[in-house]
Amino acid sequence: MKLDNIRNFSIIAHIDHGKSTLADRFIQECGGLADREMADQVLDGMDLERERGITIKAQSVRLLYTADDGETYTLNLIDTPGHVDFSYEVSRSLVACEGALLVVDASQGVEAQSVANTYQAVEYDLEVIPVLNKIDLPSAEPERVKGEIEEVIGIEAEDAVEASAKEGIGIREILERLVRDVPPPEGDPEGPAKALVVDSWYDKYQGAVALVRVMNGSIRKGQRIQMMATGRTFTVGTVGVMTPKPVELDSLEAGGVGFVIAGIKDVDGAKVGDTITDAERPAPEPLPGFQEVKPQVFAGLYPTESDQYEELRDALAKLRLNDSSLQYEPETSHALGFGFRCGFLGKLHMEIIQERLEREYDLDLITTAPTVVYLVHTHTGETVRVENPAELPEVGEIESIEEPFMLANILVPQSQVGEVIRLAEEKRGRQKNLHYTNAGQVMVTYELPMNEVVTDFFERLKSMTSGYASIDYELSGYQASDLVRLDILVNEDRVDALSLIVHRDQAYYRGRELAKKLKDMIPRQMFDIAIQASLGSRVIARETVKALRKNVTAKCYGGDVTRKRKLMEKQKEGKKRMKQVGSVTIPQEAFLAALSVD
Ligand code: GTP
Repeated sequence: MKLDNIRNFSIIAHIDHGKSTLADRFIQECGGLADREMADQVLDGMDLERERGITIKAQSVRLLYTADDGETYTLNLIDTPGHVDFSYEVSRSLVACEGALLVVDASQGVEAQSVANTYQAVEYDLEVIPVLNKIDLPSAEPERVKGEIEEVIGIEAEDAVEASAKEGIGIREILERLVRDVPPPEGDPEGPAKALVVDSWYDKYQGAVALVRVMNGSIRKGQRIQMMATGRTFTVGTVGVMTPKPVELDSLEAGGVGFVIAGIKDVDGAKVGDTITDAERPAPEPLPGFQEVKPQVFAGLYPTESDQYEELRDALAKLRLNDSSLQYEPETSHALGFGFRCGFLGKLHMEIIQERLEREYDLDLITTAPTVVYLVHTHTGETVRVENPAELPEVGEIESIEEPFMLANILVPQSQVGEVIRLAEEKRGRQKNLHYTNAGQVMVTYELPMNEVVTDFFERLKSMTSGYASIDYELSGYQASDLVRLDILVNEDRVDALSLIVHRDQAYYRGRELAKKLKDMIPRQMFDIAIQASLGSRVIARETVKALRKNVTAKCYGGDVTRKRKLMEKQKEGKKRMKQVGSVTIPQEAFLAALSVD
């Protein structure tokens, strides 16, 4: 196909604004699947994605569209993940395109993340076509939302397409606009091969599958290729396109998008952002912008039953095959036994992995409170990365501690801006900017310690604004802070999995609150349980869980057998997700209690 008849585009949309529904409509319009094959939302591959409504892994689809001018065009839709934790993947998807649809729910309006992604698209010189979706809803306000797009994002929206993915309104109009407004790709079909890895995933039978955008040259079956970031070479076994069913081709040409399978055993062999070239005739330099994505949030994952350790290891290994940003290594906790310290891109990434381990692998896990990576400078001149609060060096050894900060843009209705500022200040934020728009929204920019954000920031922001605030963030680097380790002792034993790193100013308050919370969470047992919070050797709070006077079953007087059994069963159920720490049984909630101490 001539380059002139190719259009490569992404869809920028906030979660739930209708990206998947719209993509399905395109597939239907272009005849990619028979109607009966149209499962709901073809593009979201995993069950979990369907349930949560989140696109975790980008996938793409090739559409053959016969336009009003009578010509047939290849429209390559490159799907982008919808969550801020996956922003690097979004950026690679955008680089692979010449255009983007900005899909905004006409009954809701613009959200912070769409703003950030659109800025990025504009920065990469993409043609952005605004689409107002859900125009069928009685609550749709197309004019207001157009104004908001112009005001908040700053792109022309007067001729935005008004559409309803659900009702099939405006679909051809969008496709026509793509053909008319998005420029065809440029590229040198004869030059040395250069293809950008936009996404990669693991297939049980094929190994790693890379989704690529070919910039120059071609990628052919049988070709010897080299991954430019890692230097590894492979032989191409299969190339093809998703229609959305996979269809094999002989080659992928410059300007095109498709998948490459080359006997690569794991996704580390085909990293997102890497450049594929020809091993015999390599390109002089890779495409710009390759980044090694590093985990930013860490937590300990422990099986509740120690005999599930091996299963947990196998499950992590399997998930990792598909997700090179997931890290894990064995860790031993005095309190929790054998488990793994896992690294994630962000909090949502962590929740997804946890849920998959429990749901797909049937594991019962205890998860410790998530933490960020601290840089600790010691008196001996060393710099230590601390991913686990329990491993913070002793006070006497520490010269200074740095913690990661993030720059957060929060878009919120004017009436709620006060509350958002209060929350950000409470979380040790520093205000950087405050921008009132005519559309009644305010863009609040704060620099926030990431440590405060991984606790309950998103949840509180959502609930205090009834879901009206939206947030986008990026890492802004490390800065020194006055931090200390807060320990929890249960019957005089330090529970390493409950240690936290907190700001000195908040240490007393946090310690007291945490001790109180734990007191309510730890069930009463046959003896008194002392819960203490301490800073170094100084105890700053103490609570006691009073002993039960009698055995719980004693009050049944041995008489009513069914009642007794019921009680036993209830206790057994309660035991699930509990962990025996020394002589005390501690429930899972306790390990996450620190998250909800404001
Ligand atoms: P993620 O995959 O989570 O990013 O969401 P998404 O943006 O792909 O949204 P999705 O297509 O899953 O749609 C979200 C919800 O909005 C679903 O319940 C859809 O049925 C509904 N929806 C999508 N388009 C329309 C529309 O045009 N009108 C109405 N009324 N509902 C729509």
